[in-house]
Amino acid sequence: MTNLAKQINDSPLMRSYIEGKRVAITGGCGFIGSHIVDLVALCNPEKIIVIDDLSAGTTLIFIEPYIESGLVEFHQKDIRDKVAMAQLLASTPVVFHLAAQPSVPFSVNNPYEDFMINVVGTQNILEALRVHENPLLVFAASGGTIYGEAEIIPTDEKYKLEPISNYGAAKAASEMYLSSYSSLYNFRTISLRLGNIYGPRSSHGVMYDFYHKLMKTPESLEILGDGQQKKSYLYIADVLNAVDLLVSKELNGFNAYNVASRRSTSVNEIADIIIDFLSLKSEKAFTGGNRGWKGDVIHAEGDIQKLVSLGWEAKTTISEGIKVYIASLQS
Ligand SMILES: NC(=O)c1ccc[n+]([C@@H]2O[C@H](COP(=O)([O-])OP(=O)(O)OC[C@H]3O[C@@H](n4cnc5c(N)ncnc54)[C@H](O)[C@@H]3O)[C@@H](O)[C@H]2O)c1
Repeated sequence: MTNLAKQINDSPLMRSYIEGKRVAITGGCGFIGSHIVDLVALCNPEKIIVIDDLSAGTTLIFIEPYIESGLVEFHQKDIRDKVAMAQLLASTPVVFHLAAQPSVPFSVNNPYEDFMINVVGTQNILEALRVHENPLLVFAASGGTIYGEAEIIPTDEKYKLEPISNYGAAKAASEMYLSSYSSLYNFRTISLRLGNIYGPRSSHGVMYDFYHKLMKTPESLEILGDGQQKKSYLYIADVLNAVDLLVSKELNGFNAYNVASRRSTSVNEIADIIIDFLSLKSEKAFTGGNRGWKGDVIHAEGDIQKLVSLGWEAKTTISEGIKVYIASLQS
């Protein structure tokens, strides 16, 4: 199983902070969470507690070797279970919180369920951490949805939060609690306002959809909307570098960072890169309208200056990253 975290740097910067600690990773069986397990495993922690209810159809495949070696303790639990979260985190002062329902359309059709998982679930984690002196919570927010249809692009972290989907609203609401807990109870919180993250192990998103549609019908590709929707696509290895850098800084209080690419890419361009990589001659068929679905932001692009000023830069271009990702889907 490709270990990207190890390939980038097998001695992470955050090692001095993580070493010897018990660390929990919610959603640790999923795409981003399992890569974070790999990253934390390189830091010689005392133990990694993975909490995941496997509701996304995810499995133990990426964390199995760590379970066998005794480094990871796995708990199939739902983050909505407040009592279980309190028990599991009672002696675990560092949490990477990735578990969530990650779909905008689902949140539009199921607002209550989205709220319960994405807001109450996050609050349960915060509450569980309140027993600790100076806990650290690293949270996966969403730079692509919390600003809504921003008038200033690229959009920096000081811009108003005006989400146009329930998913974006839940991420924004969670951040507000990170802020209040940081102020009231001496928490250290880092909110990663992630762009559209892609790469090996991801089983959702536009690239995953295009690849599978093309495998089924190579002669044509259905594209939702007019294909002009533009997002900050960022390769997973660049996210791991950002997480490593931010945790190593040992920041106090509440900190929000856009974690995104320098330029946005249209869905149409992504289709072209994938069709070209697969050596196909597929006709593109657009469903019409200017967004993919209700609640879809037409143009989302995070201003990354705040993160860049700490010394971070995305290293993977969109075409390089897509090629590695599609090759991983092929194998
Ligand atoms: N992938 C992206 O482009 C992207 C962009 C912005 C933000 N995010 C956020 O990053 C995080 C990880 O996303 P991902 O792409 O790795 O998703 P993923 O679906 O691959 O992983 C999420 C994991 O959380 C688990 N989970 C879901 N609901 C749960 C619950 N109630 N209790 C316990 N576990 C639960 C799932 O089983 C899954 O293994 C999410 O919070 C998501 O909102 C992702």
